[in-house]
Amino acid sequence: MRHYTTFRQLEIFEAIARLGSFTRASEELFLTQPTVSMQMKKLSEMVGVPLIEQVGKKIHLTPDGRELAQATREIFGIMDRYIMSVAERQGLKKGELRLMAITTASYFAPRLLGEFAKLYPGIDVSLRVTNKEQVLASIANNLDDLYLLGQPPEDMDIVSTPIMDNPIEVLAAPDHPLANEKNISLKRLAQEPWLMREKGSGTRNAIERCFGEESITIRPRLELGSNEAIKQAILTGLGISALSRHTLTLNQPGQFAVLDVQGFPILRHWYAIYPAGRQLSVATRAFLDYLLHREEPIPAIRREDVPVILAAP
Ligand code: PGA
Repeated sequence: MRHYTTFRQLEIFEAIARLGSFTRASEELFLTQPTVSMQMKKLSEMVGVPLIEQVGKKIHLTPDGRELAQATREIFGIMDRYIMSVAERQGLKKGELRLMAITTASYFAPRLLGEFAKLYPGIDVSLRVTNKEQVLASIANNLDDLYLLGQPPEDMDIVSTPIMDNPIEVLAAPDHPLANEKNISLKRLAQEPWLMREKGSGTRNAIERCFGEESITIRPRLELGSNEAIKQAILTGLGISALSRHTLTLNQPGQFAVLDVQGFPILRHWYAIYPAGRQLSVATRAFLDYLLHREEPIPAIRREDVPVILAAP
């Protein structure tokens, strides 16, 4: 008759080998000490050699015991990987992904989410687009799975991964007098009437920082709470503004002129963010993985890709 070790015996043996004590192993596994001792005796009999030696109060593994400890770790490693891969498959068959994106990310986030949803039809995806204040509140309360932001918050314990470029360009109406000028200075640009996003907008912060570094102040003529409202105002000749190049992806060719300004485009990035302590769901990890390792990586958005008028060479 053949005897087999049981998984439970290996589990007990692993705990003893790791903790160096029968007592601590029995506590960790919620077993009585006689049960632990008896199971180890059976294991040793089955293997046919002593595995553990007791010298005074201390226990040591014999060379055969050390070899079994190594084999046990490998077996548990294989089991862990197997159980994880089953869970992964289940999680990807049926799961949920709640994404929150800051206003301007709405120009690309739905497309990425749509592509992901096609790859994993069992995962329910949702996207909330909102302002910075609400995104930060949601991160602080650990509400959503993942956040798309233009700037990682500095005062929060988060994990942030850059996922693509976010260049900020100066835009004007196509018949604007500066549309054909080259190398326009920030000083000259500051004389124009500016249309600005609301306070707290990442785009606005980036513009103010850019001018602030040269100690130049721009006075907003109008403050508008959305990129689309700003674009409309530019077209009606109310002023100029600087917006993410992503805001132009769906516009008609030639609707806007991108001005050739010193220091522009401002080079920024989009980030995928989550709170540092958050256990990511299988669906969230799959989405992050998709963002970073898509077969066709997310391309940088180039000036040539957006339908604008550029200053003549
Ligand atoms: P926003 O964009 O201007 O809509 O806040 C985010 C960012 O660019 O940081």
